[in-house]
Amino acid sequence: MINYPFGKLELGEGLALTLNGMPLKGEPRLLRDLKPVLRNPAFVNDQNSGKVLYMMYRSVVADPMHSETFRMHSVRFDLTVMDYCLLDREPNKTLGHIHPDAMPGLSYPELYQVLNGRAVYLLQRLQRGSAQVSDFLVVEAGPGDAVLIPPNYGHVTVNVGGCPLVMANLVSNRFSSDYGPYKELRGASYYLLENGELEPNPNYPAPPKPTRSDAKYPVSKDIYTDFICCPKSYSFLNDPTRIGARYCKGQ
Ligand SMILES: [Fe+2]
Repeated sequence: MINYPFGKLELGEGLALTLNGMPLKGEPRLLRDLKPVLRNPAFVNDQNSGKVLYMMYRSVVADPMHSETFRMHSVRFDLTVMDYCLLDREPNKTLGHIHPDAMPGLSYPELYQVLNGRAVYLLQRLQRGSAQVSDFLVVEAGPGDAVLIPPNYGHVTVNVGGCPLVMANLVSNRFSSDYGPYKELRGASYYLLENGELEPNPNYPAPPKPTRSDAKYPVSKDIYTDFICCPKSYSFLNDPTRIGARYCKGQ
């Protein structure tokens, strides 16, 4: 049982999740879906390709009364549960994606919070229309930590905690994520390996040295409760110009 002010989460078989006793409807991501972004795609075979690596629970509300607040502010709250396992030498990770522009030159940001386990977020700023990465950030987060994905950064989450990772995110509901660049370039510009090493992905020309960052976004209770209490302070999710300078590396 995972207790946060917004509700009680219970993890079941097959990465199933209940919130306050209600089963949530999720969408699975399978090992075969990740084949294009793996360091070693040959790891995927007929026996393991149907394995569920993570479940995505989108547009979750803890109380139906909150639906209107989310709708009015064009924001969505999602939960993700990631199994802990190895994909050859890489710990389980997400496919990776970028967001479209919210306004010319600035893409939609996103706010994540780890609820259980440990995650490493691999963030990269990719020059438009090329494989040139101008910044690569590595942010490790534990229970309660919130991490802001600044505008113009693509992101991959890696489960490094040795147990299922449960994380939440707040994001604009005005767009769909773009997985294309990560599939075309076979993942992020570095692969995080089980021993903590970051191995350059040869499909990127000269990626910059990774920068480790411990920047966390301030949270009062949890990102859900904070949003419901004061949705206006999350207007930056649809208007990236409202992100405070110290959190915005993308401009
Ligand atoms: Fe995202």
